[in-house]
Amino acid sequence: MSGRSRLVERVRGLAAGDGRVLIGIAGCPGAGKSTLAGWLATALTAAGLPAVWVPMDGFHLADVALERLGRLGRKGAVDTFDGHGYLALLRRLSSETGTVVYAPSFDRDLEQPIAGAIAVPPDARVVVSEGNYLLSAAEPWPGVRAAMTEVWYADLDDRVRLDRLTRRHVRFGKTPEQAVRWVAEVDEPNAAAIRATRARADLHVDIDALALSP
Ligand SMILES: Nc1ncnc2c1ncn2[C@@H]1O[C@H](COP(=O)(O)OP(=O)(O)O)[C@@H](O)[C@H]1O
Ligand SMILES: [Mg+2]
Repeated sequence: MSGRSRLVERVRGLAAGDGRVLIGIAGCPGAGKSTLAGWLATALTAAGLPAVWVPMDGFHLADVALERLGRLGRKGAVDTFDGHGYLALLRRLSSETGTVVYAPSFDRDLEQPIAGAIAVPPDARVVVSEGNYLLSAAEPWPGVRAAMTEVWYADLDDRVRLDRLTRRHVRFGKTPEQAVRWVAEVDEPNAAAIRATRARADLHVDIDALALSP
């Protein structure tokens, strides 16, 4: 069985009961969390387990709020997310299975969250969520961990990760110099804190071994 099939079968096992399954994927910026989550939701749906990808990134605070807090230059740090709002959504996704639950997305061109962008219909058996801080020890993140059925951690060699992360910043509008500086000053301090949470994961996923197409 390939690494990809193993992941699908693992979730199928978790979904053997009645409740909706919530899979979280943590990991450093650029590790491939969003790419893995998008692939997994599609693969599960194709395998007969309707699944929706709901990113933690939808709970980025809007720029107007970050400006008020003086944190606009640190977007991506743990205190630049609405963690309590995310936790409330996860609880709704577990318990409100009779109606459509709407989740926010994050628009990378606007660099802003978009409310009501993602529909989780009653027949969704699995929600795949992903983000930096799913395994963080700071409040309210332990509640997020508890709300998830399992949390996985995306492993990727740091050299490859930094290259992909820098390129992504350039693709979404930063100059190469701005991208390198943002990675060094903002993303990598966050990465150090995220790496320290790795041991709490239920499963470590070797991203490059999956050979997903981005
Ligand atoms: N398997 C892969 N091979 C090549 N590039 C990838 C792969 N997975 C992701 N990428 C690219 O790496 C960058 C970071 O991936 P992404 O999924 O956005 O990471 P994260 O959500 O962890 O920040 C993106 O630009 C994406 O297109
Ligand atoms: Mg992402």
